[in-house]
Amino acid sequence: MPTFTVFKGNESGAPKKETTSKPDELSGDQVFIRITASGLCGTDLHHRTAHMGLGHEGVGVVEKTGPLCKVLKAGDRVGWGYNHSFCGHCQECLTGNDVFCAERQMYGYADLDQGSFGSHAVWREVALFKIPDNISDEDAAPLQCAGATVFSALHMYKTQPTETVGVMGVGGLGHLAIQFAAKMGCRVVVLSGSDSKKEEALKLGAHEFIATKGKTELKISRPLDRLLVTTSFQPSWDLILPIMAPRATIFPLSVSEGNFEFPYMGMLASGITIQGAIVASRIAHERMLEFASLHEIKPVVQLFDMTEEGILDAMEKLDQGKIHFRAVLKPVA
Ligand SMILES: NC(=O)c1ccc[n+]([C@@H]2O[C@H](COP(=O)([O-])OP(=O)(O)OC[C@H]3O[C@@H](n4cnc5c(N)ncnc54)[C@H](OP(=O)(O)O)[C@@H]3O)[C@@H](O)[C@H]2O)c1
Ligand SMILES: [Zn+2]
Ligand SMILES: [Zn+2]
Repeated sequence: MPTFTVFKGNESGAPKKETTSKPDELSGDQVFIRITASGLCGTDLHHRTAHMGLGHEGVGVVEKTGPLCKVLKAGDRVGWGYNHSFCGHCQECLTGNDVFCAERQMYGYADLDQGSFGSHAVWREVALFKIPDNISDEDAAPLQCAGATVFSALHMYKTQPTETVGVMGVGGLGHLAIQFAAKMGCRVVVLSGSDSKKEEALKLGAHEFIATKGKTELKISRPLDRLLVTTSFQPSWDLILPIMAPRATIFPLSVSEGNFEFPYMGMLASGITIQGAIVASRIAHERMLEFASLHEIKPVVQLFDMTEEGILDAMEKLDQGKIHFRAVLKPVA
């Protein structure tokens, strides 16, 4: 039985080091991976009090492959994200929308014994992605959820280079959304709480920057054709509606409790589309890595130790809005 370290959430909110064991022989297309880096996503904070393996922005090196593996071999660098498995046969899977498969196995709902915070993990080959050579482990980690999520919202819903794209919230997701949208050729408008991230947002590719705190009305040079909302809380939709172009699409990506309430008549009168989206299907994830490699899109990372103390420190800082812009955990030698 290979036994390895995992870091699990618990009632106190401070992750605890534990072990988990897997059968001696890998079955099917299972792959045994040694973890080399993991991002810490805003969604992990929602699970920190649950007794489950934390982390879903994993990167590692393949140590062993199961009998049905066709692509990967020992030594390959791979990444994985939020979705661990899908059926491969249903209409969603057949149309490249496997993230909506009825048999999907997602973080927080399945495989609760392990995550990307730990020493090793066992995942299906079909849900693993080869990391391009020019992307380091710590840069690849935030791409596995944050990068995949925002790229998928832009790419799968056919963003055009002539569009003005808004990105609300400059955190893990937001700072990557700015870079992807800018490299797709779009005009990028950033909406952020204060002016403090202005200089960096412009360096990442934004063309316009708007601080939102305390404002009752937003001034914008051109209305938004799309808006990716990547704040950790739902924004005031009353403030957003007037800056959207007719027939614009809003992607509320924040994970949030409660219902979604939007100015109803405004939505009708402007023909606004509200587009739900969750992480990424395999095709979008693959293309995201290719695109990031070609355009040298890099997350801005802050490194922490993959230890109980390191994870807690990173989580507390993320909770307080003090991470610049994505925490990445690395195993200690
Ligand atoms: N739909 C999906 O598939 C998916 C995937 C991954 C993550 N998520 C969700 O996306 C959200 C962002 O994740 P993340 O990892 O990017 O988090 P993050 O790094 O904490 O970034 C969130 C940003 O929201 C803004 N913010 C912070 N506190 C806020 C508050 N009290 N009210 C409003 N805005 C606040 C900040 O941006 P400014 O300083 O610029 O205002 C912050 O940088 C989370 O809710 C996460 O659970 C969804
Ligand atoms: Zn995530
Ligand atoms: Zn399916």
